[in-house]
Amino acid sequence: MTIEEKIGQMNQLDPSWNAEEKEALIREGRVGSVFNIVGAKEVNRLQRMAVEETRLGIPLIAARDVIHGFNTIYPIPLAQGATWNPALVEQAARLTAREAYGAGIRWAFSPMVDVAHDPRWGRVAEGYGEDTYLASVMAAAVVRGYQNDQMVNGKMQKCLAACVKHFAGYSASEGGRDYNTTWIPETQLRDVYLPPFKAALDAGAMSVMCSFNDLNGLPSSANPHLNIDILRHEWGSDALLVSDWGSGSDLVPHGLVADKKEAALRCINARMEMDMQGNIYTDYLQQLLEEGKVKESQIDECVRSILRMKYRLGLFDHPYVPEDQPMVYSSRELAVVTRTAEESAVLLKNDGVLPLSVSKTLHDQTLHDQMVNILICGPLADQPKEQLGTWVFDGLPERSVTPLMAFSEWADSINDMSPLAPNRPPVTLLYEPGLTYSRDRNREGIARAVAAARKADIILYFCGEEAILSGEARCRADLDLPGSQCEMMDALAATGKPVVMIVMAGRPLTIGAQAEQAAAVLYALHGGTMAGTALCRLLTGRAVPSGKTTMTFPKMVGQIPLYYNRHNTGRPSYDPPMLIDSIPIGCPQFSIGQSSYWLETPTEPLYPFGYGLSYTTFEYGEPEMEQTQDTLFVSCAVTNTGRYDAYEVVQLYTRQLSGDLVRPLKELKGFEKVFIPAGETRTVRFDLNRGQLGYWHEQKRDCESRVWFATDPAEYEIWVAPDSRCTTHSVRFSIEK
Ligand code: BGC
Repeated sequence: MTIEEKIGQMNQLDPSWNAEEKEALIREGRVGSVFNIVGAKEVNRLQRMAVEETRLGIPLIAARDVIHGFNTIYPIPLAQGATWNPALVEQAARLTAREAYGAGIRWAFSPMVDVAHDPRWGRVAEGYGEDTYLASVMAAAVVRGYQNDQMVNGKMQKCLAACVKHFAGYSASEGGRDYNTTWIPETQLRDVYLPPFKAALDAGAMSVMCSFNDLNGLPSSANPHLNIDILRHEWGSDALLVSDWGSGSDLVPHGLVADKKEAALRCINARMEMDMQGNIYTDYLQQLLEEGKVKESQIDECVRSILRMKYRLGLFDHPYVPEDQPMVYSSRELAVVTRTAEESAVLLKNDGVLPLSVSKTLHDQTLHDQMVNILICGPLADQPKEQLGTWVFDGLPERSVTPLMAFSEWADSINDMSPLAPNRPPVTLLYEPGLTYSRDRNREGIARAVAAARKADIILYFCGEEAILSGEARCRADLDLPGSQCEMMDALAATGKPVVMIVMAGRPLTIGAQAEQAAAVLYALHGGTMAGTALCRLLTGRAVPSGKTTMTFPKMVGQIPLYYNRHNTGRPSYDPPMLIDSIPIGCPQFSIGQSSYWLETPTEPLYPFGYGLSYTTFEYGEPEMEQTQDTLFVSCAVTNTGRYDAYEVVQLYTRQLSGDLVRPLKELKGFEKVFIPAGETRTVRFDLNRGQLGYWHEQKRDCESRVWFATDPAEYEIWVAPDSRCTTHSVRFSIEK
């Protein structure tokens, strides 16, 4: 390859070029990847130029932000995490890959695995929440789903290359402000932020994306510690490393370098291999080579990575995608979309009003025959586009089923059955949105909604955030329901009718006051195309909630950052030591012995991590433990003590009680989502190996690996619990020296 051809491969075409310029660059072999070009015909047309008209015929790779679905949209990743069901998330990714492939896309810019502690950061919607272990499991599931061998056009192929992002530390930006500085000590980087990347790479992720932030003073596109020491040397990864959108040229505004030429030099020295949109390699790399500042071997290394990915995807053998396969989901596939939305909704409160069943057709349901007049209201009750959530370029809102649509269909089907239940009055649906969009401050509609509420037996209030309030650069300083939604809740509650709040949002919101007024709260996040169907099924008892939170819900913004696996402090001190979590902190002052303490910022969350109710109840037995040299086997019997067959997310937490360094209050080390029929018991068993208890330690080197992890000889406490409060029995065990 000539130098021009090599540098061409390192260029991901800036989508802003006009058609003529774009085609000329492709024909000259100066493009390695196209971005934001969609449609099998158009991708194939450009591909033909690369394959048939350039000297070497190297195929292009078409990339796109495929984040949570393609035309058919799944719940946002934060919601997918709340399913705690990696098999379902993997299936969703597999179907997404096929749909994207049908449009010519072979490279998805996801999964995003940035562990996030700050819900003000708009991009929490794109990740899997605050826990490293959960994010790692989900990251691997998405990679397997995208990169699974699938039958395409009669051949087994990997449809879609995954790109795990943003490497690294992006979510730790100061104050939750997007793109901002991050300061992350090595211990925290290794223990909290990096493991999901490693998990995705271990699952075979073909590429990694740099992040925008400066990490401890060094933007990641120019960070050899991340990109070379860790990614290449420690982890031995040969995945392609692509910049984020212009993150290479951003070194200039960061103030790291004086101009773009120097930016190109810093990036290649940090082995950023492909330049997305920034044009720094196309403009300066050859010059840097001629000046002897860059070696050709550095360029070769990058190009090899790019060609390797194309080869792995099978692009050299099959560069074109079939043009005659319009992808429309069958009902079987739509059932997966619906199920993902169902399992991602978290029931936060229920005083017994749910499920709203008016039918006896399902066995053993609570019968609310008096609830026949149902008011559907709120700014998100009928918003086909908004329920899709952030990062939806190709999603088709016309395929969305909104809550209003789903309830109308459900009411019709119930009423059609009325000859079978002659004494039951028909279900009547009232619809009055009250507010037209989430930030609406015009209160006139609220009066109409209240008038309708007076005629209703129950109010379903679909509130939250429209899609544009979360995602990239969509940070919020205030986490209340926007617009006049809180006032609308006050007005609805004042009618004395039961209000069920269904929150469709991109992040945890500070809904404490509204939740107190509500009879029930179902936290749905943005549920995608089939959100309406899923919510209707859950609310009417045809499905049972099984989602659990993946981020701690703060009571107020001042508590942030608030996450379950933080460290305990030295104060107040107790004998024996007590978790600060277990102190009742509702009010700012409390006493222990002679002393009284003030906590201006309570640490108690509104809802803890891992939390979610069901229509049934579960009882946890005492965990049992067996220990071998390297592994700990923990099992626990969980009984469904209620009346509904249901899924439960059984969680395993550990705490190291002493050690070389202070360790987190609790750490999630395993989970399993189990189906337990009413009245039955299932025993859940976890295997925990010694390595899983280790943590990053600068001074300790595990002789086996080149990585510095320590497992302290210490006493550990272990819980099998329904959420991170760990109010169930625990067992202790020790690791001897
Ligand atoms: C985002 C990435 C995204 C890229 C391409 C950037 O602004 O940070 O996550 O993949 O744009 O659209």
